[in-house]
Amino acid sequence: IEDALEGREFSYFAISDGKTHKILGSAKDYKTLFDGDNGPNTGSMGSVSPSGTVKGIEEKIENDLVSRAFDGMRKEGIFYKGVFYVGGISAESKPFCIEYNARWGDPECQVVLPSLQNDYVDVVQASIDGKLNKIDLIQDDLTRICVVGAARGYPGNYLDVIGKRISGLEDVLKIPEIKIYGAGIKVEGGKFYANSGRLFSIVGKGRNVLEAREKVYEAMKLVSIEGNNLHYRKDIGI
Ligand code: GLY
Repeated sequence: IEDALEGREFSYFAISDGKTHKILGSAKDYKTLFDGDNGPNTGSMGSVSPSGTVKGIEEKIENDLVSRAFDGMRKEGIFYKGVFYVGGISAESKPFCIEYNARWGDPECQVVLPSLQNDYVDVVQASIDGKLNKIDLIQDDLTRICVVGAARGYPGNYLDVIGKRISGLEDVLKIPEIKIYGAGIKVEGGKFYANSGRLFSIVGKGRNVLEAREKVYEAMKLVSIEGNNLHYRKDIGI
């Protein structure tokens, strides 16, 4: 029987080596197709990190939902190694767990991982070797926003968009502060073509949500798909 909780969702990431764990950060995932959390659910239309939702309840999340889960697993003989995240909800300022995931989240990874200043390979190796206690995680305090570019029609029928040219990504690639992650893109002769529903994500960063939003949407404005076939949410980070 579900609790039918109402509130704001968050994702909270940690990495464990079976004995100890370190917090990687938080994010909010924007799952629905349209602004204002309207429309059908998708594989996600964007993310922001850190998540404003977890402000003031981080300690409770870490104690009640993260540490307790690892302790519980160890009691059952499970020495979990790897990335782990709580898909949670804050209802009346209390965090509740909706699900645990034994992996990164997409597109949360795109906004959480770049804040890590350590070499990620060293961190993963320490998780494998049971030596996370020897590593101090260093994270910057920037805000990152990821906006997903999708084919118009997604998550319904977007077959008409497949094969259409995506223009402007070449220009975005030249902006040093912006990162692009390909998803459903086909590259032919150095040109980009739509090849799926969720096509790519663009990540912008700044000292706060306003700055990160400005950066990412300036970049997104450069991109188009012939026939006005690019769809993206305009409210990521809000
Ligand atoms: N963004 C949610 C997930 O990766 O499942």
